[in-house]
Amino acid sequence: MVPLTSISIVALALLGLSIAQNQIPITPNTPSHIPALGFGTWNLKISSANTSAAVSTAIQIGYRHIDCAPIYGNEKDVGKGIKDGLEEMGLKREDVWVTSKLWNDHHEPDMVEEALEQTLHDLGLEYLDLYLMHWPVASVPGKSIISYINTWHAMEALLTTSKVRQIGISNFSPHQLHHLISSSTHKPSIHQFEAHPYLQQTDWVKWHQDHGIRVTAYSPLANLNPVYGSPGKSKDTPPSLLENKEISEIAEKRGCTNAQVALKWGMGRGTSVIPKSSHTSRIEENFEALGCDLEEEDYDTISEVGKKYLKRFNNPSEGWGVPLYEGLDGT
Ligand SMILES: NC(=O)c1ccc[n+]([C@@H]2O[C@H](COP(=O)([O-])OP(=O)(O)OC[C@H]3O[C@@H](n4cnc5c(N)ncnc54)[C@H](OP(=O)(O)O)[C@@H]3O)[C@@H](O)[C@H]2O)c1
Ligand SMILES: *[C@@H]1O[C@H](CO)[C@@H](O)[C@H](O)[C@H]1NC(C)=O
Repeated sequence: MVPLTSISIVALALLGLSIAQNQIPITPNTPSHIPALGFGTWNLKISSANTSAAVSTAIQIGYRHIDCAPIYGNEKDVGKGIKDGLEEMGLKREDVWVTSKLWNDHHEPDMVEEALEQTLHDLGLEYLDLYLMHWPVASVPGKSIISYINTWHAMEALLTTSKVRQIGISNFSPHQLHHLISSSTHKPSIHQFEAHPYLQQTDWVKWHQDHGIRVTAYSPLANLNPVYGSPGKSKDTPPSLLENKEISEIAEKRGCTNAQVALKWGMGRGTSVIPKSSHTSRIEENFEALGCDLEEEDYDTISEVGKKYLKRFNNPSEGWGVPLYEGLDGT
């Protein structure tokens, strides 16, 4: 267990977040809060035991928000980790926020509830706090194109069950999101997309804030993920965030690590962040980002970093043969 220091209490108070919660309020649908710092589970699959241990450890360290997806192929192990972590801490299901996502092969409206059931079964949960449409892309073999609007309507219907608290989306372009909002009763509570110092998308983040849609930033540590290939290989690949000169200078000045600076920057701009790690020491380090105090000038410096480097690391557009992120940076 890593207790939050008094320094972090001050930091959280300045951020308008309270310790017990570290929460960002959500406006649409029902009143709720999403913890600003979450734990990612993509590529968390060294072994079943390792996956469960990492999730359980995260909960014991203080994370109260777990980001899952069936396509990550580990929901049973993640579910066991959630169960173990809650038990270790004497916590209840409602003390932790759990997100999962609808995969592209279940966009057919009458398959949506079945996909949710499978995820709940695998995670061993009665309900999700948030169910996201993972991509605005349907891939049902042998079926005609399914509009994400019809998929969304099926997700809206889930709100009348007790199985999901909030619904949202991931990886939508501005046009796709506008289309969705104008064709539905419920706008998404949350939009999860890639955001970090090398892909800041400040206007896009602000647009959501102005429209009462919360943003969760995925890949918040930018290019630390090995699936992105070796940093420095291509010309437009920025330096690893751990080796970025400006970020290192801020880290040194504030007594934080580079990862903590990136995460705190993400939270400071009002997005929730969901870093993933398989290693206890990093799971801990990332959680302690809550206690890393950044100054106004640090945000200015990081803003300049974003002008120097611009890189989107997650873009399956070519492989899937569909346009994605149209009108957004880094495409
Ligand atoms: N909606 C979507 O389409 C989508 C797409 C991508 C990601 N996501 C979600 O967002 C989560 C996070 O994104 P991500 O996994 O792409 O990237 P990330 O969390 O930004 O980076 C993860 C990588 O950074 C390393 N790492 C973590 N903390 C570190 C630290 N303090 N120091 C040095 N290295 C560190 C991890 O290594 P070790 O594990 O070896 O420690 C791992 O390789 C995912 O797990 C997933 O839940 C969603
Ligand atoms: C997961 O496995 C890796 C590699 O063996 C190890 O370094 C790490 O400590 C393990 N994580 C947990 C939480 O047990």
